Amino acid sequence: MKTNTPLRPLSQRARKTPPSPIRRLSGLAEQAKQGGAKVHHLNIGQPDIVSPNEFLASLPRYADKVVAYEASQGSQILRENWSHYMNDLLSLSTQPNNFLITMGASEALIFLFMALCDAEDEILIFDPTYANYIGFAALTGVNLVPVHSALDDGFCLPGIDQIVSSLSDKTRAILLCNPNNPTGTTYSRDELEMLLNLCEERNLYLVVDETYREIVFDGRAPLSILHLAPKNKRIAIVDSLSKRFSLCGARIGCLYSENEVLIEKCLSMAQARLSAPSVEQFAASELLQSVDAQYLEDARNEYEKRRDALCARLSEIEGVTFHTPGGAFYAVVRLPIENAEDFSSYLLREFRDNGETLFVAPAAGFYMGAGRGLNKVRIAFVLTEDTLGRAGDILEAGLQAYRKKG
Ligand SMILES: Cc1ncc(COP(=O)(O)O)c(C=O)c1O
Repeated sequence: MKTNTPLRPLSQRARKTPPSPIRRLSGLAEQAKQGGAKVHHLNIGQPDIVSPNEFLASLPRYADKVVAYEASQGSQILRENWSHYMNDLLSLSTQPNNFLITMGASEALIFLFMALCDAEDEILIFDPTYANYIGFAALTGVNLVPVHSALDDGFCLPGIDQIVSSLSDKTRAILLCNPNNPTGTTYSRDELEMLLNLCEERNLYLVVDETYREIVFDGRAPLSILHLAPKNKRIAIVDSLSKRFSLCGARIGCLYSENEVLIEKCLSMAQARLSAPSVEQFAASELLQSVDAQYLEDARNEYEKRRDALCARLSEIEGVTFHTPGGAFYAVVRLPIENAEDFSSYLLREFRDNGETLFVAPAAGFYMGAGRGLNKVRIAFVLTEDTLGRAGDILEAGLQAYRKKG
């Protein structure tokens, strides 16, 4: 029987969860491609570097006859090898039992939001921010409180007074992404210490998303918050194989903390989703057992060359300003226009340079502060140097055509 009664509205949560700013214009990109355009994707952090052979070559060796659930906390061998990797390569002193293997850093973040906060509790973040934190907050009922960081200051952490003035009796944690997505900023030891001291003083948790930890440039060494405070129980780190090993689709990440109660409670949540993928855990374990440091070094060098190529080309374009990223593979770029969302749509909808165009992510979606980031875009430098140079040409021509059109 069919009635004309309108369907019930979906939940507040469903309505409040924003679409990803990285993918929002994907429909336009698809149309552009169907119309024959070549679209250079600078919008999404999908690395194009080949995944490590140790991972791929191990897959046929997966010997179990049934692909069964893994342990909810992750396979013992993977936790051992991840710990070994961090201790060996980063000179840390992690213990396998303090790892919880998750479906990417994403799931680790969702567990942490849920474990640290009740509904309406607050987590302080720095604006601009990784846009999916906004989605995770909407899913878990957490309120994110943004503290603004500025392009002209290299997106470094704001002063302590500004941070303190954003705390309330509902604040439960500070979340930092280091190196940062979307800005590419790497934070100094002093900045990390400042946050840690503040968390001590105000009895807050400190969550550090270290998804890009090994992708750092200009001679920097990877810096984990665990280097500063290896045994501090108010710290949780989130880690992932997605970016440094080009394994986004493997969906393997982890949560690490010296806080056994936190790990235990997150494990109860993990039990409700049974386990992370078994086959990928097997291959990840094979990879981390004997990481080829050269792979990481080559990837790092490649991203640094791309960063240099992109920044060199951008600095030739009139009116374009940016902060040179010290890590990760993103740059937030200010354009000489008012509305970067409109410009990004224009590139996909109308603009072609020899049949080619660009897909860039409007930066407003990475800002929680209303009206921020309107004239900026985030560029992911996950394409070859040559393609990035060509992308610079298209951006320059696109800006000219857009401004001419008025
Ligand atoms: C800062 C940051 N954290 C977490 C994630 C999610 O990573 P994963 O693929 O491990 O879920 C990403 C992915 O882009 C990211 O940029």
